[in-house]
Amino acid sequence: MPENPYKSIPAKLLDVIEESGTIKTFVLKPERPILFEAGQFIEMAVPGVGEAPFTPSSSPAVSEKMDVTVMRVGKITEVLHDLSPGAMLGLRGPLGKPYPVDTEFKGKEILVIGGGVGLAPLRSLLYALLDRIDTYKKVVVRFGARSPQDIIYKDLMKKWTTNSPMDFVISVDADDTGKWKGPVGMVTTIMDDLPINISDAVAVVCGPPIMMKFATLKLLELGYADSRIYLSMEKNMSCGIGKCGHCRLGPYFVCEDGPVMTYDKIKNYEAIWD
Ligand SMILES: Cc1cc2nc3c(=O)[nH]c(=O)nc-3n(C[C@H](O)[C@H](O)[C@H](O)COP(=O)(O)OP(=O)(O)OC[C@H]3O[C@@H](n4cnc5c(N)ncnc54)[C@H](O)[C@@H]3O)c2cc1C
Ligand code: FES
Repeated sequence: MPENPYKSIPAKLLDVIEESGTIKTFVLKPERPILFEAGQFIEMAVPGVGEAPFTPSSSPAVSEKMDVTVMRVGKITEVLHDLSPGAMLGLRGPLGKPYPVDTEFKGKEILVIGGGVGLAPLRSLLYALLDRIDTYKKVVVRFGARSPQDIIYKDLMKKWTTNSPMDFVISVDADDTGKWKGPVGMVTTIMDDLPINISDAVAVVCGPPIMMKFATLKLLELGYADSRIYLSMEKNMSCGIGKCGHCRLGPYFVCEDGPVMTYDKIKNYEAIWD
């Protein structure tokens, strides 16, 4: 008999890492390994409250543990943020379509544009790209945070922006510390003069809807083809498996047809940036 698709795999919370005032990373050990590809998501069950979708932030090459980085925004994430190591959660997945890191991305220049908590799902993509770095012409990352204090994974970001095979620049909307040495301004302000040959490149955009909208418009202005812009769509979801219709966007169920979708497929639907 096929396995019940709504059944979660029990997972023990091993560690909780405070990333910023509102963001924590939960290190989980599932009862059996969960193999996922960058861009796919899981439904996380928090006992007594419900389930919510999150994208793992750890490397897809590591299956025995999984990091999930969560911003506190409402009912489920509030309860999650109060949990301590030892708590039991449930994980259902992996669900949805991943980034085509071994197919469409191969041999290309990869531009990754991120904002805010979008760095969480992007971290697992960047680990996957680094694992295959020789199969790409180059990887360029431009990331925007509200302020230096809002930058998550601080030690890793220091390493990736100073000593990695990626060309990685972070900007902040405003410097509330007086110590920021990088660019100040929205992420779109560091998208001019990109060291990218657009005709040979694909672009990935992940972050809050408003940031995704303006970053995508900027990419179009720069000359990127619609079909080469990969968006990570975070629509409201429930079942995660194409049954309930909560995540509908035009003819698509984002949970099954996405969450990674190219702009050409969805650009004409009004709810794209909601
Ligand atoms: C594919 C996918 C991957 C995601 N990955 C991450 C991640 O890695 N880290 C992270 O912090 N968040 C991620 N999210 C968003 C996360 O699912 C929501 O923040 C969470 O469901 C909110 O639950 P809540 O009960 O705490 O909030 P609620 O009390 O339900 O609502 C609080 C606010 O969050 C919004 N919201 C509620 N549910 C969702 C939802 N399913 N998607 C988007 N917004 C929602 C509501 O509109 C409201 O503004 C992802 C969402 C999707 C669809
Ligand atoms: S979340 Fe139920 S159909 Fe997509």
